[in-house]
Amino acid sequence: MIRIASLVKTFVDRSAERVRAVDEVSFTVEEGRFYTLLGPSGCGKTTTLRCIAGLERPDSGEIEVAGSVVYSSGSGVFVPAYRRPIGMVFQSYAIWPHLTVFENVAFPLRVGKQRLSGGEIQKKVSQALELVELQELGTRMATQLSGGQQQRLALARALVREPQVLLLDEPLSNLDAKLRERMRVELRELQRRLRITTLYVTHDQIEALSMSNVIAVMSAGVIVQEGPPREIYMHPRSQFVAQFIGSTNQIEGKLRKLEDGDRGLVDSEVGELACGLTGGLLPGAKVVVVVRPEDVVLHKSRPAHSGNVVEGSMATVMFLGEYLDCTVQLGRVFLRTHQSHGLELRRGDAVWVELPPADCMALPVQEPVIAAANQAVPAEAE
Ligand SMILES: Nc1ncnc2c1ncn2[C@@H]1O[C@H](COP(=O)(O)OP(=O)(O)O)[C@@H](O)[C@H]1O
Ligand SMILES: [Mg+2]
Repeated sequence: MIRIASLVKTFVDRSAERVRAVDEVSFTVEEGRFYTLLGPSGCGKTTTLRCIAGLERPDSGEIEVAGSVVYSSGSGVFVPAYRRPIGMVFQSYAIWPHLTVFENVAFPLRVGKQRLSGGEIQKKVSQALELVELQELGTRMATQLSGGQQQRLALARALVREPQVLLLDEPLSNLDAKLRERMRVELRELQRRLRITTLYVTHDQIEALSMSNVIAVMSAGVIVQEGPPREIYMHPRSQFVAQFIGSTNQIEGKLRKLEDGDRGLVDSEVGELACGLTGGLLPGAKVVVVVRPEDVVLHKSRPAHSGNVVEGSMATVMFLGEYLDCTVQLGRVFLRTHQSHGLELRRGDAVWVELPPADCMALPVQEPVIAAANQAVPAEAE
């Protein structure tokens, strides 16, 4: 288990401003689970991982790993990195090019405080290489491995000391698209087999959605929403999360009235829309209605029912193999939608666009998200 409470880490940047890279972050990764921090570049993911690994000293908060407190500002605890039961894979892999595959994996054992015999090292390294199916390549130089193999080598090195938890910082981002997809599956299989508590960091929403038990979406040093992938995808609680998690359509409007069960009517740019609401919205509030491309339904003629149906015209139709990627124009608004091949609509055709009320969600309008760096407070204000 990993437990983080009120973690704060600030840096002083070039203009001597203090930046809150991690700002009162709290979360728990339950035993054996795969937990992902997802967010844009600069939101504080790597800094959070480095604090957990002991590579950064936080300003305040508490960190518990596998039942022991490894950092606490309250009681002055700071366990050094090499004594934390953690394996980490860095974004760059940090593989030593002048060493063989075997020696790369053996390295953490040789520098460790515990003295291991040559036989023990041999055994542990072989086991780790076997886990990632590199047992045949021990004598190769690390640089002679393919991208995917280097990634697996980094993983073997993280596992060789049999850590209680695994920290992975964008481990797949250097691989090409095909390989990345395969490694996603491999990595998740390995994690399941070892039942090792894993904290994963990525800016790639597909990676996060497909691999995680729980996702925490981060923005500017703060966790803005936490939940299982399906919940994050289906019920984003802010415009930022909706935008970041998937390509969504956004329609501006104003909440006209509330209805039963967290629903309401919105006067929008494309007319009246019945929508689900997120907590706390009141009539008159400025909202943005989000609806995902795969939920939009197109009709060639006016459908019998009239709920959330708007007349428009086909702006673009693109054949993408698995589906048609279409843009529909509704007055000033352009919506993206995915449709099956069967749909015979061409550019310029009139079309009736159905935005199923169950798939429309009104969210409070947010100020554009500011990167952490722009949230600086002067250092002397501390
Ligand atoms: N060593 C450092 N010195 C100064 N600022 C840093 C340092 N490391 C990170 N930062 C800043 O902290 C913020 C979070 O960075 P980081 O944790 O690397 O984000 P992410 O991994 O989500 O891309 C950024 O604004 C970054 O510029
Ligand atoms: Mg990073």
